[in-house]
Formats: sequence, C-alpha cells, structure tokens
Amino acid sequence: MSEVPLHQQYLHYSELPPSMRVLYTAALLVLGMAYMFAALYLFHTYSGRDGKPMTLSYDDLVIAYSGSGKGSRLESALRGPMSSMLPADESSNLVTWVQKGADRDVYEKEIRLTIEKRCMSCHDGSNPHLANLGSYDAMKKVTEQDTGTDIFTLVRVSHIHLFGLTFIFFLMGLVFSHAYWRPIWVKCVVVGLPFLCLALDVISWYMVKLYHPFAFVTMFAGMVQGLCFAFMWVVSMYQMWFAATPAPVTTRETAETSLVG
Ligand code: HEC
Repeated sequence: MSEVPLHQQYLHYSELPPSMRVLYTAALLVLGMAYMFAALYLFHTYSGRDGKPMTLSYDDLVIAYSGSGKGSRLESALRGPMSSMLPADESSNLVTWVQKGADRDVYEKEIRLTIEKRCMSCHDGSNPHLANLGSYDAMKKVTEQDTGTDIFTLVRVSHIHLFGLTFIFFLMGLVFSHAYWRPIWVKCVVVGLPFLCLALDVISWYMVKLYHPFAFVTMFAGMVQGLCFAFMWVVSMYQMWFAATPAPVTTRETAETSLVG
C-alpha cells in the first residue's frame, strides 16, 4: 500500500503536549454547545413561517428572506380573522386603498370612517394586545407590504455571520489539522469547504429575494457547514482521546528515536 508519507510539519494529537490537548478539548466542548444553541435559535426563528410549525422548510426560508407575497398584515387580517367585521364592499375598499399605496387623502375622506365604525370598538388602543388603528400612521404600519428581511438587517447579520463563523471554522480546522486521515484530499476538502459554503450561504440570502429557488442554496450550504463541523468535531475528539495512535505516526517516532540514538 503506497501511503502518502507524513508531512514534516504534521503533528498528530498524540505528539502534542497535554496542555494543548486540554485546550483543544475545552474549546471543542464549548463550540459544540454553541453550535447546538445556534441550531435551536435558527429553528425557532425560521420554522413555522409557512404555517407549518416544527419544520424548517423551503417555504419558511423564502418567506423569511423575500416575504410571503401575500401583501400586508391588514390584507391578511381582512382575508382571515377580521373578515366578519365588515361588509364585503367596505373590505374591498380597504384593500384597494392599501394596494394603491394607502394614500393619506383617501384615508381622511373614506377610510377613517370605516375604521371608526367597524374596527375601533376593539382596536382603539385600550387592549394592549391589539394593534391600535386610531391614526393614519398606525394604519400605515399594518399596510406595509411584507417583503421579508430588509436589506440593512441582512447586511448587519451578514457581517456578524461572516466574522463569527470564520473564527469558528478556523479554530475547528486548526484542531482537526492534527487528525490523521487518508486520503489527504478528504481532509483538505472538509477543512476548506465550510468557508466556501459560508460565503455561498450569505450571498444566497440576498439572491432569494430575486429568485426564490436560491433558498435551496441556503439550505444546502447550511447543511454542508453543519456536517463538516460535526465530522471534524467527532474525528478530533475521538482521535485525541480514544483511538490508538496511527501506525505511521508511531513508526515516525521510532525512526526519529533511532536517529538520535
Ligand atoms: C370584536 C373585536 C374586533 C374588531 C371589531 C376588529 N378586530 Fe381586528 N383583531 C381583533 C383581535 C382579537 C385580533 C387578534 C387575533 C387574531 O389575529 O385573530 C385582531 C387582529 C387584527 C389585525 C392583525 C394585527 C397583526 O398584528 O397582524 C388587523 C390588521 C386587524 N385586526 C384589523 C382590523 C380591522 C381593519 C378591523 C375593522 C374592519 C378590525 N380589525 C376589527 C379584534 C377585532
């Protein structure tokens, strides 16, 4: 078997001083915990947007990044739970007003009366759980179109995500670089791929706004990052504490000893 010989600079975990192994192990334990919490947070933030709780789906991501495509909160309320509060013609007046841009003049002339008559008994602000619809500005808020996460928020999250995950995968890759794995190209791919996927992930958030199927790229890139993380974590921990030292490493040790002796 033609094994690729060990690189001169390569050190297996067994060749590292104990303090370094303790440092690596402690960091991995906390990083693993952090990854779990991140996954929980992600799930909590995105699942159920499409009306199906407990699953994180393609639709959830599309809605999160580019909006539900179902118009404003007012329109969904009038189509749904508020549909019985007013006659159909008044309801369609409201919808037309929203779709034409929720103009202030039209509000003063027509809309305000409808709201006062049909809605203010509940939405006058006396119930803190119900949107107060008592003014033009308040109405304006529920007429905003749902276009998903806005660009500025995405920019903010992007830079945090890029900085943060670069650190995480750099640390993880550094620890994993001491693992013994053949073929070597697999090791290189596992170390490098998360960075590529990280970039793809972030870019895809913006692309979903333009073309929904990019949500598949978001999902795929996230999954690959998770898998690479898990692979490096498990292999590192296992080789650090449980596995026998690989033969090429032990023979290198004897070779060096005999050289000295
Ligand atoms: C009988 C009391 C009542 C009346 C009258 C009423 N609503 Fe509501 N409205 C509620 C309640 C309760 C909710 C929240 C529960 C829900 O969403 O099913 C709500 C929710 C809403 C929401 C959703 C707010 C959000 O956070 O997305 C909108 C918009 C709304 N109402 C608009 C109206 C409009 C417009 C009218 C008048 C045509 C109206 N409501 C009349 C009780 C009322």
